[in-house]
Amino acid sequence: MSSTSPKTATLSLEGTNRSATLPIIEGTIGPPVADIRKLYNELGIFTFDPGYGGTAACDSKITYIDGDAGVLLYRGYPIEQLAEKSDFIEVCYLLLNGELPTEAQLKEFSHGVTTHTMLHEQLRSFFNGFRRDAHPMAVLCGVVGALSAFYHDSLDINDPKQREISAFRLIAKVPTIAAWAYKYSIGQPFVYPRNDLGYAANFLYMLNAVPAEEYKVNPILCRAMDRILVLHADHEQNASTSTVRLAGSTGANPFACIAAGIAALWGPAHGGANEAVLKMLAEIEHPKNIPDFIEKVKDKNSNVKLMGFGHRVYKNFDPRAKIMQATCHEVLGELGIKDEPMLDMAMELERIALSDDYFIQRKLYPNVDFYSGIILKAMGIPTHMFTVLFAVARTVGWVSQWKEMIEDPAQRIGRPRQIYTGAPQRDYVAVAERG
Ligand code: SDX
Repeated sequence: MSSTSPKTATLSLEGTNRSATLPIIEGTIGPPVADIRKLYNELGIFTFDPGYGGTAACDSKITYIDGDAGVLLYRGYPIEQLAEKSDFIEVCYLLLNGELPTEAQLKEFSHGVTTHTMLHEQLRSFFNGFRRDAHPMAVLCGVVGALSAFYHDSLDINDPKQREISAFRLIAKVPTIAAWAYKYSIGQPFVYPRNDLGYAANFLYMLNAVPAEEYKVNPILCRAMDRILVLHADHEQNASTSTVRLAGSTGANPFACIAAGIAALWGPAHGGANEAVLKMLAEIEHPKNIPDFIEKVKDKNSNVKLMGFGHRVYKNFDPRAKIMQATCHEVLGELGIKDEPMLDMAMELERIALSDDYFIQRKLYPNVDFYSGIILKAMGIPTHMFTVLFAVARTVGWVSQWKEMIEDPAQRIGRPRQIYTGAPQRDYVAVAERG
């Protein structure tokens, strides 16, 4: 805390002589916070912040976002450097442990993930309970929640060893469950993970291989998949991570908490946006229809949003969107895809939106979901698997944030309050006397 920065804030109630002195807590970087934990006892009032847009719900060392500058750091490392120089399994180690691993640490960690990729064989029949046309996010949510019915030896959240095993199991098994959800939806046999493949390669292998012939993982797709996983790994206290933290604060087991995170991520306002962007581009159909579509978005009564645009925190470019756009061009070029109409449309849509006052005034820029769907489509990933892929990547972020919360000695059950605007107390009226 710099010597000149204020150490307290005072809140006084108009018309009374009552006030509360709130300690100001400074972090490493970013805005300080006013500690309001004693506010109700001192002034008898709550703070009101629906959507938590101005509320710091926890103290975290994992990810830092500067929404105005478009900065994203994982444990202090800029996302641009990690996307270019690191890979997903190393980023998993970094998010979980706080430091980049030595070669020996990375080897041991990677081996730990690899040796947990298989599922309990009984789980295979669990898939059969779903309709073939079930959305894979429904299957992922159900099967991940069911893991707590199989792995009783890693449910004690107070045992560091069991927390570590659960972390390995979740990071390693979610791609297998995701791939099997896809295979189940297309009526193909499940493909078992291979211990000789890296994380992204194994995921692509389980998604695409069939018993009838050998499947070779395309190195271009593998590198692109790995980078997409890195970009989606964590993102501070977003809706699904906050869901995981709140569920975890009750002492629920980690599998149940991650299933809750998957459910929250599914919404189109959150992780479901990548799928919604592709649907939106398909509905626009042709660049000539973009101006009409933009007018619809600007008409509040239409309830139409420009999917893949806007963000609660970023009021500048989402740094992940920039990397994603560059990766889009790279992957399409390397795959020899000359003209991808969806990409042309997305770039034209971005160009028009960024020059339109409605978006400029509201500081609406492309977010991570705007381009991810186009790359995934070019990689042959079906649209209804886009959010599943987001969940595969974000599992390490959820687990890391869950672990940080459980290991925080000040941790207590999350229990927000409210302002009550309902009926005042009143007596029961018998049905015969109701008007
Ligand atoms: C993710 O939180 C995270 O970190 C999430 C995430 C992560 O990695 O975990 O980054 C991943 O979820 C990215 C966001 C993906 N969602 C979408 O692309 C869906 C489209 N975006 C919107 O639904 C919206 O922008 C949100 C949900 C992302 C943010 O909602 P907010 O914070 O309520 O939006 P806002 O307060 O900034 O909106 C300000 C104004 C409002 O208009 P006015 O009332 O001021 O007139 O901008 C409008 C909004 O209606 N607006 C949009 C818009 N987003 C906001 N108008 C049209 N299209 C949009 N996309």
